[in-house]
Amino acid sequence: MLKPKVYVTRELPGRSLEIIKEYFDVEVWPEYGPPPKQHIIEKAKDADALATLLTDKIDSEVFDAAPKLKIVAQMAVGFDNIDVKEATKRGIYVTNTPGVLTETTADFAWALLMAVARRVVEADKYVRTGQWKVSWHPSMLLGRDVYGATLGIIGAGRIGVAVARRAKGFNMKILYYDVLPMPPEIENETGAKRVDLETIFKESDFVSIHVPLTEEAYHMVNEERLKLMKKTAFIINNARGPVIDEKALYKALKEGWIAGAALDVFEQEPTPVDNPLLKLENVVVAPHISSASHETRSKMAEMVAENLLVFFQGKTPPNLVNPEVLKVRPLTKLI
Ligand code: GLV
Repeated sequence: MLKPKVYVTRELPGRSLEIIKEYFDVEVWPEYGPPPKQHIIEKAKDADALATLLTDKIDSEVFDAAPKLKIVAQMAVGFDNIDVKEATKRGIYVTNTPGVLTETTADFAWALLMAVARRVVEADKYVRTGQWKVSWHPSMLLGRDVYGATLGIIGAGRIGVAVARRAKGFNMKILYYDVLPMPPEIENETGAKRVDLETIFKESDFVSIHVPLTEEAYHMVNEERLKLMKKTAFIINNARGPVIDEKALYKALKEGWIAGAALDVFEQEPTPVDNPLLKLENVVVAPHISSASHETRSKMAEMVAENLLVFFQGKTPPNLVNPEVLKVRPLTKLI
């Protein structure tokens, strides 16, 4: 049997490419940066599968060029770069990599939160640039307490819950907003209380965002809501950049409506170096690396391989995001 063709849009970490190569005819984009859209379209022409990253825009333009395409296996939990509705209509399966990155991403939300609250990045710069001239001063680099503060979690999915569990260890009061409540046992375990968005913004010392990017989530953090926040409060985002209106955030930080922000994601990525947010001392930034641990990235890549393999063996891939597709293109054994 001819091996199905898979186009992989970046070198994947760990063993996953070896696994994929055993069963598929594989081509990999060799560069560090993403392939241009036109290149993906070209490669999709005779591809049975695409293995993608969140930086690849996979939409009807790609699907139109790809008559043989059966599955898009994404290495990320978020898949807002893929037009899933269009894929489903055309019988194309879409998979992602949830679960394995939950704790790693929650760890990083915590790293961001702690860093901005206790001015870790400023302190590091302070030492390195020779500003540390007095050995100890009662008012040197004062931050805000995390222990015992109020945390507002927006989005109580896997990552939101993992963040809540960490917050319990810091004796925090936990508020959360989601369309669906957390399971009661998790509310009991963490003490998290479901409230409306207004309450989250008004009462939290730290607002941490953990929603996927949907139409409703776009610019959910806007001028009006930032104005509700305490002057001493912080906002943390390691979900998706466009959930925050960056212009409004800049205004809020510059004019002191809030105390600081920690961002791993931006409206445009890479964020331009002249993004005014980068000029502010009370902003901690990172280049979209929340799931970036050796262990987790290898596991994510292996999940891509597993989703491909299981699908081509004629079974439902474990991380199918569009189960309605089963009716459009019934599963068949292809390898
Ligand atoms: C990363 O942002 C992901 O969605 O996995």
